[in-house]
Amino acid sequence: MTTEAIDLQELASSARRELEASDDEAALESWRIAYLGRKGKLTSVLRNLSELPLEERRRIGGEANRLKEELESALEAKRQALQQQRLAATVEAGWLDVTLPGRPKRIGRLHPITQTLREIESIFVSMGFSVIEGPEVESDYYNFEALLLSKDHPARDMQDTLYIDYRRDGEYPFMLRTHTSPNQVRYMEQHQPPVRIIVPGKCYRHEATDPTHEWMLTQVELLAVDEGISMADLKGTLFEFAKRMFGQERRARFRCDYFPYVEPGVDMAIDCFLCGGEGCRTCHHEGWIEIMGAGMVHPEILANMGYDTDRYTGFAAGMGIERICLLRHGVEDIRMFYANDVRFLEQF
Ligand code: PHE
Repeated sequence: MTTEAIDLQELASSARRELEASDDEAALESWRIAYLGRKGKLTSVLRNLSELPLEERRRIGGEANRLKEELESALEAKRQALQQQRLAATVEAGWLDVTLPGRPKRIGRLHPITQTLREIESIFVSMGFSVIEGPEVESDYYNFEALLLSKDHPARDMQDTLYIDYRRDGEYPFMLRTHTSPNQVRYMEQHQPPVRIIVPGKCYRHEATDPTHEWMLTQVELLAVDEGISMADLKGTLFEFAKRMFGQERRARFRCDYFPYVEPGVDMAIDCFLCGGEGCRTCHHEGWIEIMGAGMVHPEILANMGYDTDRYTGFAAGMGIERICLLRHGVEDIRMFYANDVRFLEQF
């Protein structure tokens, strides 16, 4: 029965060699089944011991049992080693070098129009005005009719207004508001004097765009109605605003202008803050820059709101924010504001 003994030695060395070569969990498991499993090589040796003569049985039995113990603990050791390796690999892969410089986070910022708008709002809020808002889709009544813009007024032309594609009685009764002025009426319908509000918001016009025209613009409407409000209040308020916005040394110019909903109507200009009135590219060599339309609220509108026109008068104004922002920052093309070019927007 020496063959058995030689077999056992061979079995031991092939078992050790193969275990050594197993380098993952699956290989270890098939190795275990091959040697130590129920039908494994070493298991069969142990199972067949009873067929051997007593002497052989003792010797081989003892060796086989020692080998079994050795292989079992070698298997366990190998398993742990593999686990260690896996752990080390995971740590290696996720290794963090805390001495590397951090990646800078790109911090967002407010859009230049939003920044300008907030500045304008805070100036008027400090003068006692409240900020309210109104709808961007507006009815013919609020956008035009109630503001005394008669049906044949040129500002109602399809060229200027973006109508909503819905017809009633052959007309388009809804549109994207062309200005924030409808909110004068909306507010006065709901509130009695005294009124002091500003209304910021987006407005839309059917424009061929160019460096100074966009089809979407932001306006701020201004409305004050109270006893004894006069043209002097209009001038004082708007001039104070202009000085806080564009510098204390600014001068203002008011000239007659026409808007059906104010009487008299004016257009307000400030002396060019770049050249101080000398004439430059920004002011088109005029020395003056027009910044808003304004006027005394037409008494007919006040009467339509049920206000007592013997007691109450008011002024209104409306300004375009893109234009103000463009002038202040020397931006050459108004379309840049909505082109979504981060390289441009980052500069503000
Ligand atoms: N609504 C006018 C515009 O769009 C501006 C304006 C507002 C003029 C209020 C007078 C009074 O340009």
